[in-house]
Amino acid sequence: MPAFGLGVFQSSKEDTGGAVKAAIEAGYGLIDTAAGYQNEAEVAMGIRESGIDRSEVFITTKLRTKDFGYDSAQRAFDASMASLGFDVVDLYLLHWPVPRNFENTLASWKVCEQLLAEGRVRAIGVSNFTPAHMARLIERSTVVPAVNQIELHPFFLQQDHREAHDRLGVITQAWSPIGGVQRYRGDGSEGRDPLQHPVIVELAKKYGKTPAQVVLRWQIDLGHSAIPKSINPQRIRENIDIFDFSLQPDEIAAISGLDTGQRGGGDPELVGTPEGK
Ligand SMILES: NC(=O)c1ccc[n+]([C@@H]2O[C@H](COP(=O)([O-])OP(=O)(O)OC[C@H]3O[C@@H](n4cnc5c(N)ncnc54)[C@H](OP(=O)(O)O)[C@@H]3O)[C@@H](O)[C@H]2O)c1
Repeated sequence: MPAFGLGVFQSSKEDTGGAVKAAIEAGYGLIDTAAGYQNEAEVAMGIRESGIDRSEVFITTKLRTKDFGYDSAQRAFDASMASLGFDVVDLYLLHWPVPRNFENTLASWKVCEQLLAEGRVRAIGVSNFTPAHMARLIERSTVVPAVNQIELHPFFLQQDHREAHDRLGVITQAWSPIGGVQRYRGDGSEGRDPLQHPVIVELAKKYGKTPAQVVLRWQIDLGHSAIPKSINPQRIRENIDIFDFSLQPDEIAAISGLDTGQRGGGDPELVGTPEGK
């Protein structure tokens, strides 16, 4: 799996194909979509329009919690494949755990294991699982998830998750890698945007890079996979232009030190409850 990719959450149907094409032209090798984003078909269109061979692009998509269950997960996977129009998905993720109905989560994981055995997906993983959810899943199944895609940016580091992943050999993939959720789910108050934090702004000046590039480089220097979203071709190119510099250990530590322990997005523990999503 390429470490660096394009996310397409909240990319409209109109914008997605162009963003994917721009990303591929800029050298991205990974596109992260989901059934819930309702743009799988447009992702596939962008890949086709780019002219690149399908095998050169790594495609991730995800199973919605509303499709969890043994039969419904199989139907949902078939629907994703029909939208994408490709023979195989590179990585298939359970989008969120449903802690209050973990049996259903496990039944969906069983489907993922079968899809892997049948060769319809090349790898399977999870998203938004806590270390406790991960342990429950592993205890009751055969395949250890290849990836856990979690909210992770300078203001929310999830150190316990990262350590658990390292112990288990699971790849940590950062969603909202430049802290986008802090803006689009935030109240607009000052200090919520990591890209405006003085530590990051100063490092950007030092390296002649933008704040987003510094944060994405920090992600890569920490060994994470990162999937920033943009529909803007200039920012799409900017975001991947991070492989000509690296941060010093004290600079990496300074950015990690901005962790507030406060998530910007939904709490996985609350999925399936009135307070959750
Ligand atoms: N598994 C999950 O539950 C989950 C949840 C959320 C996200 N994700 C995945 O992670 C991907 C990325 O996360 P995200 O969209 O939440 O946040 P993000 O990538 O951290 O931030 C995206 C936001 O930042 C803007 N942006 C992009 N590049 C920029 C730059 N260089 N400078 C300034 N602003 C920039 C984008 O606007 P423009 O488009 O206008 O450039 C967009 O508003 C998603 O697309 C999705 O694939 C997964």
